[in-house]
Amino acid sequence: MDAADKNDAGDPVEPAQVRLAPLTDHDIPDVLRLERACFIDPWERQAFEHEVRNEVSRSVVARDADDRLVGYAIYWAAGPEFHLLNLAVAPTCRRHGIGSLLMRRLIRDARREQAEFIALEVRVSNASARKLYDDFGFVTVGIRRRYYKNGEDAEVMVLRIVREPGPPTRRTGGGAARR
Ligand SMILES: CC(C)(COP(=O)(O)OP(=O)(O)OC[C@H]1O[C@@H](n2cnc3c(N)ncnc32)[C@H](O)[C@@H]1OP(=O)(O)O)[C@@H](O)C(=O)NCCC(=O)NCCS
Repeated sequence: MDAADKNDAGDPVEPAQVRLAPLTDHDIPDVLRLERACFIDPWERQAFEHEVRNEVSRSVVARDADDRLVGYAIYWAAGPEFHLLNLAVAPTCRRHGIGSLLMRRLIRDARREQAEFIALEVRVSNASARKLYDDFGFVTVGIRRRYYKNGEDAEVMVLRIVREPGPPTRRTGGGAARR
């Protein structure tokens, strides 16, 4: 049984019940099922296996209290850029804040690794994802024409990471900043 079965029974998953962990090989069968349920051009198994081993890859898998997969996100840390490659929430778990939870983890990781911005591509027809990104402050910076296999365009959206101010610099008697 997967998360969809549970939620069809009227038991919505709330973010507080969700556990987050990086993607492992153990997750791949569940992730593949969800991937195929969410996308018209799903990633193959090898793509997920590659991301488990890819050293620039970062990921977060969300499971409910019964260990059922409810969502995942995969992104790359590429110097100043974090790039969101894949994000999905189980269809029957949507609109309960899980997508937002995954986005907050992405942004937290980007801050921790001192990225300057997060970029992503999204189908122009994908109103729900565009609204989610818009809510987080992403702005559209361009269009990639015919980016997807079916010829659809992608919007390129970017979120600039604002540095949180550090503690005030203490000055020594000589005026040199202490490290
Ligand atoms: C996009 C997706 C990840 C959102 O996940 P989610 O868990 O439903 O997102 P949240 O519940 O955190 O929603 C946060 C906000 O996003 C926006 N949003 C999400 N789904 C929406 C929808 N169907 N219609 C309009 N706005 C939507 C809303 O502003 C929402 O806030 P609200 O519920 O308070 O109105 C999910 O719909 C999904 O997996 N879609 C299929 C895969 C996909 O398109 N991935 C993105 C590829 S770029």
